[in-house]
Amino acid sequence: MSDQIRIVEVGPRDGLQNEKTPVSVAGRIAFIEALVGAGLHTVEVGAFVSPKAIPQMVGSDQVLRGVNHHPDSEFHVLVPNEKGYEAAREAGAKVIAVFASASEGFSRANINCSVAESIERFKPVVARAKADGIKVRGYISCVLGCPYDGEVKLQAVVEVAQVLWRLGCYEVSLGDTIGVGTPVKARQLLRAVAGVVPMADLAMHFHDTYGQALANLYAGMEEGARVIDSAAGGLGGCPYAPGATGNVATEDVVYMLEGMGIATGVDMTKLVAATNEVSHLIGRLPVSRVAAAINAKARAAK
Ligand code: HMG
Ligand code: MG
Repeated sequence: MSDQIRIVEVGPRDGLQNEKTPVSVAGRIAFIEALVGAGLHTVEVGAFVSPKAIPQMVGSDQVLRGVNHHPDSEFHVLVPNEKGYEAAREAGAKVIAVFASASEGFSRANINCSVAESIERFKPVVARAKADGIKVRGYISCVLGCPYDGEVKLQAVVEVAQVLWRLGCYEVSLGDTIGVGTPVKARQLLRAVAGVVPMADLAMHFHDTYGQALANLYAGMEEGARVIDSAAGGLGGCPYAPGATGNVATEDVVYMLEGMGIATGVDMTKLVAATNEVSHLIGRLPVSRVAAAINAKARAAK
């Protein structure tokens, strides 16, 4: 069982990219500052993608510039192609994330090309990033099921993971985009992908659509996985994965880890305050069970 976990907070990107009410640049900067203040030092803050595809991420350059002054924090941004790469570099990105899919249907819907074509697009991005001293993370979506193609074979995930790793990604994040996984499948996934990417360099990016994410993370931790992607308040979803809900909530992950004696360095009170602030901006309550419990307790104490 892993005894050290690194959390990658993806709320400001994955969390807000699917919200009906877009959050302003100032609102996103305030959210990120609050997350850093709560002790989350690796935060995905935006995406350099087509504004037609994801209008919510417009202004990611200003967001990145607005928060990039924390020397001890690492800010990630999504980049789908060379155009996005140039804009990200210009805005001062030090870590970018390319995003592929294990299934053809999602790749086509999300980034308008096949899986193989997406890899061809990433090659010059990764090469240029390497030359510029920018780190590249690699995502794989639909690792446990696809909203378009249904079942996804483990071998398909393993092959994309191997390609991303060989290209030079420092970490490969396994996305259960539609949150359909269950613990035994999550365990088999981690075990299979660890055959081509070291376990220490795999991240678990589990959406909580069917309420399985914490159990799946625990199963992955039992296999030795050490990196968890989560979103404050359980925000999130992908416009190209209809019906999929948010990422596992950071509050729920922190509560579980601290309860297991694994220190996270996160101040729960500050984290819930950050979540409440952004929930106010988007006009809906956090889905995090822990945030809801803490808020209920605070109301009762008044
Ligand atoms: P396309 O239409 O095939 O691209 O889109 P294109 O090269 O033909 O260009 C079309 C237009 O987009 C042009 O503008 C380009 O300039 C512009 P126009 O001439 O029409 O005015 N364009 C761009 N603009 C800004 N930044 C760019 C860029 N590239 C082209 N980088 C493309 C292909 C990939 C660009 C598009 O499909 C896209 O942006 N998709 C992004 C989708 C996305 O962000 N999805 C959500 C993130 S993935 C996710 O959530 C999953 C994850 O969380 C893991 C998991 O949960 O599984 C990571
Ligand atoms: Mg996601």
